[in-house]
Amino acid sequence: MNHLLTRRRALTLGLAATLSGCAATPEYKPQRGQMGKDVMWLPTSERLTEKMLQMAGAGPQDLLYDLGAGDGVIPIYAAKTRGLRAVGIEYNPKLAQHARNNVVRAGLSDRVRIITGDIFVEDFSQATVVTMYLLPELNQQLRPTLLTMKPGTRLVSNSFDMGDWEPDASHEEGRESALMWVVPAPVAGRWTLNMPERRWTMTLDLSQRYQKIGGQLSIGGVTQPVLGASLRVDELQWVFIGPDEGSYSVRTRVSGSEMKGEVSSYGVTHPMGGRKL
Ligand SMILES: C[S@@+](CC[C@H](N)C(=O)[O-])C[C@H]1O[C@@H](n2cnc3c(N)ncnc32)[C@H](O)[C@@H]1O
Repeated sequence: MNHLLTRRRALTLGLAATLSGCAATPEYKPQRGQMGKDVMWLPTSERLTEKMLQMAGAGPQDLLYDLGAGDGVIPIYAAKTRGLRAVGIEYNPKLAQHARNNVVRAGLSDRVRIITGDIFVEDFSQATVVTMYLLPELNQQLRPTLLTMKPGTRLVSNSFDMGDWEPDASHEEGRESALMWVVPAPVAGRWTLNMPERRWTMTLDLSQRYQKIGGQLSIGGVTQPVLGASLRVDELQWVFIGPDEGSYSVRTRVSGSEMKGEVSSYGVTHPMGGRKL
């Protein structure tokens, strides 16, 4: 009898709630390990998020994109602690809505946006910091797109590498780890160089694999390997031996098809420029 009364009361209350339009829908709660389009959902811990942002040197001037945003923990934490703007891309519409609710709850609607979409379709080329907690094969699929981003863009991945693109920094603490890459300027190709102080005809052939540089320099038809070449974002450094047997250290900045900088030899510094052929 009691049971019947309870049931009737529950039905009446349910009907009243439906009629008054305030039926309480329980909030969607994602489950750790639930499958997503290409990878499951697992949140990055706040501790590792902090470390990833430190590695990227993220600050208020940055625009961060989190690829596969889950519940939005990274964009929210980054906007809150670094004062930057952030966008999360999440494929699962329910999870994306849950992340949006978290953004509202954090009072960050003016700085954090969650897009329901596919990381392989959405445009994130404006990002200056990209965070990922995907899988090595997904990182590698994204790699060609990531390499066309603005030189200097920082990419930080929770746990997973980017194949043969070696990270510029890595961090391990307990069971957590993160890797960071800086997008290098594209410098491969043939360059003609000029040093107004010397009348040498110089042709530089550069090969590039990510941030690793090799090549050959030809001065007046005599070819030598480029020595100790390094590239950090758009700053290219290397050494060559001049026709006068002197050792010359070059430090230039590359911007598109222009190279500008200086060359030092035995304490004397001269300007050096270059153009891509
Ligand atoms: C391991 S979780 C990481 C979540 C969040 N970035 C973090 O670190 O806390 C990966 C997320 O990517 C989402 N995802 C999987 N494939 C995706 C795709 N193709 N486009 C957008 N999101 C995707 C999953 O739904 C999941 O929320």
